Amino acid sequence: MGKPSDLSSSAFSVVTIHQYRVLYEKCVQLINSEWPRSYNARLRSLEASRDTLPTSMVVIKNTDSINETTSVLAHARLSPVPSDSSAVFIESVVVDRRFRGQGLGKLLMTEVEKHCFSALHLKTIFLSTIDQDGFYIKLGYQFCKAINMFGTHCALNNSTKKIWLRKSVM
Ligand code: ACO
Repeated sequence: MGKPSDLSSSAFSVVTIHQYRVLYEKCVQLINSEWPRSYNARLRSLEASRDTLPTSMVVIKNTDSINETTSVLAHARLSPVPSDSSAVFIESVVVDRRFRGQGLGKLLMTEVEKHCFSALHLKTIFLSTIDQDGFYIKLGYQFCKAINMFGTHCALNNSTKKIWLRKSVM
């Protein structure tokens, strides 16, 4: 599928979920379509979103008004790293299967990075993935050692199959 020609013409917006609580349900459905988990657990996670971390950011299809029928097409969660107040951990990045390969993942991550580096003045984004490292490499992320969210680099985490990547502010 090619890139939608309207991607650059305000067909989509990237917003924080807590601005539009009416989108919670659609967002839970999107995340659970990739990683099924209890509805309430997902909801609690979204309800924790705020301007400072943690924050859930979503791509929505622009419509005249945002309501419970608005499509939520992509999601990313920005979590604090307790051991490093200048860093953020990005997780649960997912694009609606029907819209993959059309630039929405890149759009979301670009806005996530602006929010982290420009609005929150953070210095480093960390994330881990099992098999999507190619996507993040394309976006300029670099391989790094596993981080222990609560301490220093941790050999224990290196034993898992996760691949760790980072991007630092320019
Ligand atoms: N390997 C290499 N390149 C890739 C990959 C990949 N797996 N996925 C996308 N790309 C490239 C695209 O070709 C494109 O390149 P271009 O700019 O040269 O055209 C660029 O990356 C941007 O691609 P998008 O179309 O924006 O990516 P998409 O919208 O499909 O989103 C995503 C990518 C989020 C990985 C999506 O496939 C998805 O939701 N996958 C399932 C859930 C998942 O595994 N999420 C990642 C979990 S890790 C985490 O949460 C930190």
